[in-house]
Amino acid sequence: MPKPHTPDYRRILDLLTDLVLVIDKDGYVIAANASATAVLGVQPHDRPYLLRTLLPASEHDRCDLLLREWTDHHPIETRFITKDGAELDVSIEVQPLEPGSNEFLVVFARDITSQKQRDLDFLRFSNVIHHTINPIQITDAEGMMVYVNPAFERITGYSKEELIGKNPRILNSGKHPAEFWSGVWKHIAMGQVWMGRIENTRKDGTPFYSELVISPIVDMQGHVAGYLGAHRDITEQKMLEQQLVRSQRMESIGTLAAGIAHEVGNPLTAISSLVQVIQRTSSDPFAKEKLELINSQVNRIARIIRELVDFSRPSTHVTKQTEVNRVVREALNIVQYGKKVKDITFNIALAEDLPDISVVPDQAVQVFINILMNAVDALEGKKGAITLASALDERMVTVIIRDTGRGIEPADLEKIFEPFYTTKATGQGTGLGLWVSYGIMKSFGGDIFVESDPGKGSTFAISFPRKDS
Ligand SMILES: Nc1ncnc2c1ncn2[C@@H]1O[C@H](COP(=O)(O)OP(=O)(O)OP(=O)(O)O)[C@@H](O)[C@H]1O
Ligand SMILES: [Mg+2]
Repeated sequence: MPKPHTPDYRRILDLLTDLVLVIDKDGYVIAANASATAVLGVQPHDRPYLLRTLLPASEHDRCDLLLREWTDHHPIETRFITKDGAELDVSIEVQPLEPGSNEFLVVFARDITSQKQRDLDFLRFSNVIHHTINPIQITDAEGMMVYVNPAFERITGYSKEELIGKNPRILNSGKHPAEFWSGVWKHIAMGQVWMGRIENTRKDGTPFYSELVISPIVDMQGHVAGYLGAHRDITEQKMLEQQLVRSQRMESIGTLAAGIAHEVGNPLTAISSLVQVIQRTSSDPFAKEKLELINSQVNRIARIIRELVDFSRPSTHVTKQTEVNRVVREALNIVQYGKKVKDITFNIALAEDLPDISVVPDQAVQVFINILMNAVDALEGKKGAITLASALDERMVTVIIRDTGRGIEPADLEKIFEPFYTTKATGQGTGLGLWVSYGIMKSFGGDIFVESDPGKGSTFAISFPRKDS
């Protein structure tokens, strides 16, 4: 009877792509599978050799340790020297040939070169994303954030712990209608890249503007695994654009005002001299009294006209290196003299070592008087506080004047700088204070910024360029 064919199971070892080596208890290699022979070029029957000789010298100690303490070892990563003398990254694991005995050990080694390459690629990309100045967020397919980079934390004011697991809606400014966002979603859910400008809200409630690119992350099977949102911060650009629009508008208003002032000025001078002539020649007390009234009204018009002309004409006054605090104090002295300030607490928190500014001192004082008077008016005779603080950066010296008054509605924020814009009763305000102040600040190369919380108060920031920078 023919003997049943018994397959040679050892061949299974040769079919494995892993390198398999059998070693004895002294660490000598006594068998190798086909992969090990092919890669390492070893023939154990040639002459016995130690496993460690297959590893670069720097790995010998680790190799010895592994063979001694193989029971508590998970796979370790090391390197083999191939038959061409190159080094091969491997992950090796040791198992006893017979359970519980270390007579013979089997070493399984897996080539991890490509995995290592992938890890390295991953490391490179993740480093780029982590360290780029562009704020970046990654969400899962449901749109929940799974990663944010430090730039993203910086721009939003939220920490990653506060963001991970949340919907990016947390930054929603409410400035874009719901249809806008559903449009974005429709677009990216189809696997397409979306690009656009958006307004977001930081943790502290202030806006930031970004140019956003959202691209779907598609896996090997073509499924959307998540979304990558890369922002470009355009807040500063946006602010500059707004400032430019404002200064252009001011300029055209200025030209117009100068024209009108000129046209009105001449007839006004004529009226004024005629009034004086009649005043001198008339002896009627009634007429004299009315003429006096006319005269004071004419003077009021003349004063307004002078302010208009001053605004539009480049200043002929001389600029001087001036201490910021001196200017502020001078203005404060004048304002505090008024009777409307008795219920107002002035908190002065100006730094003492501010660099000098280059201004026409009287004009600078005028700016602070105008803004402080407005703050006083905003308190409407009620109890309240006006705080003066300073801030310094590389380019600007800024004085901040904050009041706890009535505040300004968002829609009025831009208008308050326009000439004759006033919310005060006739005779109480002409609406020229801020317009004149803005013109003066522009002539110094500075600027005025406002923020306001209607009902709670307003903050004016008056910035002068630093001459020392
Ligand atoms: N701190 C403030 N709080 C609230 N509203 C303010 C403040 N500062 C300015 N405003 C608003 O801006 C308007 C314009 O101010 P602006 O100083 O130009 O004119 P005015 O104060 O009305 O008149 P004047 O020419 O006498 O200064 C004010 O009428 C007021 O409505
Ligand atoms: Mg005013």
